[in-house]
Amino acid sequence: MNEHWWRSAVIYQIYVRSFADSDGDGVGDLSGIRSRLPHVKELGVDGIWLTPFYPSPGADHGYDVSDYVDVDPQFGTLDDFDALVADAHRLGLRVIVDIVPNHTSNEHQWFRNAVSDPQHPDRARYIFRSGRDGEPPNVWTSAFGGPAWTLDDASGEYYLHLFTPEQPDLDWHNGRVREDFEEILRFWLDRGVDGFRIDVGQALYKAPDLHDVHQPEPRPAFADWHTGINQAEVHGLYRSWRRLADSYPDERMYVGEVVLENQVELAKYVRPDELQLTFNFTFLYEDWNAKALRARIDRTLEAFGAVGATASWVLENHDVTRLPTRYGGGEEGRRRARAATLLLLGLPGAAFLYQGQELGLEEVELPDELRQDPVFFRTNGARKGRDGCRVPIPWSGGPPGFGFTAGSPWLPIPADWTALSAEAQEGSPQSSLALHRAALELRRRIDALRTGSFAWRASPSGTLLFERASGNETIVCVVNLNAEHLQLPDGELLLASEPAPGNLLPPSSAAWTRV
Ligand code: GLC
Repeated sequence: MNEHWWRSAVIYQIYVRSFADSDGDGVGDLSGIRSRLPHVKELGVDGIWLTPFYPSPGADHGYDVSDYVDVDPQFGTLDDFDALVADAHRLGLRVIVDIVPNHTSNEHQWFRNAVSDPQHPDRARYIFRSGRDGEPPNVWTSAFGGPAWTLDDASGEYYLHLFTPEQPDLDWHNGRVREDFEEILRFWLDRGVDGFRIDVGQALYKAPDLHDVHQPEPRPAFADWHTGINQAEVHGLYRSWRRLADSYPDERMYVGEVVLENQVELAKYVRPDELQLTFNFTFLYEDWNAKALRARIDRTLEAFGAVGATASWVLENHDVTRLPTRYGGGEEGRRRARAATLLLLGLPGAAFLYQGQELGLEEVELPDELRQDPVFFRTNGARKGRDGCRVPIPWSGGPPGFGFTAGSPWLPIPADWTALSAEAQEGSPQSSLALHRAALELRRRIDALRTGSFAWRASPSGTLLFERASGNETIVCVVNLNAEHLQLPDGELLLASEPAPGNLLPPSSAAWTRV
């Protein structure tokens, strides 16, 4: 079967400011990434996704873009970008870039024009409305705390921002917004990118009546409750984007950051003529619970299968607490995270890994005075924010730079990460790095694991057992979440996240067996 590359791809997310710093300013950059591509290649993934590196005032660390077709000087130049793509392609790695179409920076020329002159045509690119009885136009809230509207003093109108006030939302009903983004996509496609990760993919179109939607308390992780977004029009837009990508050679692709829990609704984004992939956060927000995980997997496979789409799986990114910490931290959290790696990479479909996940890094507890995430400030500290998963990568050596920087890292790297550095884990067969490399190597080599069919097998409660089969090869993935020791199936043990003496798999571990 001629398999589309993205259907079973493993993509490695690079959070640009925290990956590798080439010039000693303590912030990662594109040249730094180039120098560390061999690590990514050796890990064995199919490609990288770069978080935004475009010019940005940095109100949300790059997710507030002031120019969509350039590189922020702190990350390098367009030449550096071209060189990075060329290096990646030479190594056989695809390059996905982040596109942020829901909002611009308030320093984007469009927004500057919009506020400097209410008659300026660029005003219509944004959502300006009169208030209601001295209050904002509706009760919508920002995902980062506080109201979703800010008063533009000069005109007396409010503008909408689903995130910070420095990230005004675009009005996608405006034809020029649509035309300009097509040009932006072309700009990067022409430079050779293999695809785009679409930021806040469900939110671009707002209900034209901007009706009141009351936010549940606490704010849910998923956006299903918000009837003012996830509008039908967005699918027409993505169809046109798909046609654009398909007009280029070599299967360029999109992955949507669509934060919906309802899998049927989510699968609409990956119908055959829309996006190829969407993140599926339902898995990420689930506990270490066999029954619950199994139900999530079933719902995903059923809904995605119904539209002929490939599923995708993700456990970490730059917005969520690191996996070992979510799973309880310490030794137990570490074991569960290792086991979850074999679950993640054993499931059918595409998978995403976040930088540092391969090293088993835990969330960093930062002192409040070092925090930078707007989530922390906009909620007055009620939500700690996402800095703890964005601490730079420990490559080698020790504090302060850990091979990440010759200077002082923009967030401090914990002194006790010396033993977790890529260099320290290199050559240790028990390390998290070795486990990830071995799993990815098997997945590349064994068709059954990468593209084979999927079926559950019966297993005791507290465990998950499924098979992947292709031709006459069958691999069984066994996850013992919290049962007593679980007997491994007869066959050849390919990989286990913990030692399984006597073929008994202990709790909080997983294995792949060829049967
Ligand atoms: C997405 C990004 C997140 C960002 C937000 C606003 O959720 O992953 O980091 O803050 O969009 O652009």
